[in-house]
Amino acid sequence: MILDGKGLAKQNETILKEKVTNLKGKFGRVPNLKVVLVGDSPASMAYVTSKKKACNRVGMDAEVIMLDINTTEHALISLIEKMNVDDAIDGILIQLPLPKHMNETYVLNHVSPNKDVDGLHTINGGKLFTKQDGIVPATPLGVMMMLDHYQVNLEGKHAVVIGRSNLVGMPLSKLLLDKNATVTILHSRTKDMKKYTLDADILLVAIGKPKFVTKDMVKKGAVVVDVGINRVDGVLVGDVDFENVSEVASLITPVPGGVGPMTISALLFNVIKQYEVKYHD
Ligand SMILES: NC(=O)c1ccc[n+]([C@@H]2O[C@H](COP(=O)([O-])OP(=O)(O)OC[C@H]3O[C@@H](n4cnc5c(N)ncnc54)[C@H](OP(=O)(O)O)[C@@H]3O)[C@@H](O)[C@H]2O)c1
Repeated sequence: MILDGKGLAKQNETILKEKVTNLKGKFGRVPNLKVVLVGDSPASMAYVTSKKKACNRVGMDAEVIMLDINTTEHALISLIEKMNVDDAIDGILIQLPLPKHMNETYVLNHVSPNKDVDGLHTINGGKLFTKQDGIVPATPLGVMMMLDHYQVNLEGKHAVVIGRSNLVGMPLSKLLLDKNATVTILHSRTKDMKKYTLDADILLVAIGKPKFVTKDMVKKGAVVVDVGINRVDGVLVGDVDFENVSEVASLITPVPGGVGPMTISALLFNVIKQYEVKYHD
């Protein structure tokens, strides 16, 4: 059976729309997201456009600020600092990757943790790893929302995460651990990967290697979550060989239509969370 991220994200839009309407009634304005894109990579352009469109569909304000690829790090940080003190802005998203001449961590740490909607500020990362309420990166949050919706029981289960990035693998592993799964994290230096994947009750893959996970690596009945987005000959494919792995998995995310839409859905919840925090301070 399919873990239908697209369908669930659509359902979430009804909830989000209602939340936005209520917030507008209560505080007189709708949440406002600024998305900053440096450069004009077609993939990043597609991502920022779909984020803006999703905001608008639920009644939020969103603007994409496009900066030239040669923008200096200093100029980007000045813009971020201006947005940090603008009360009309609730969320600031810096689309990654940034150009090579910028230090991503340094830039992201200039976004106010109270306007960080990607959960990538060191303070929000620290909160996640010390069990404090903060902003969780949208992709792992979206994955957890999907597992929760499909009532995938994680307690005592063996969750195997392939990938250990700050954006996906690490926060996802912590969220699974917080749900009392027993978590194994695999990465590019792992030896004999199959030994671990074949034991996974839930296998979550975020590496960026097309169709890396094959049927022989998956236990019968496992839940498989494919975070990967790869473009092969103009076609989007995940990190999992969907066609063959779906023969053994009990639940599996398609690509596209799985984790991607849930990431956007979780982002919108994060924007609302930052808006609400502002009014509760
Ligand atoms: N669906 C969505 O909304 C969404 C959101 C974000 C990302 N993504 C996609 O998810 C994928 C991963 O993104 P990311 O940002 O986490 O990527 P990343 O920062 O490049 O990290 C990739 C991770 O995969 C590991 N890895 C690479 N090759 C491997 C291999 N052969 N075997 C085992 N592990 C391997 C790396 O290990 P090392 O640490 O050892 O180098 C690293 O930890 C990409 O396809 C990206 O486009 C999708």
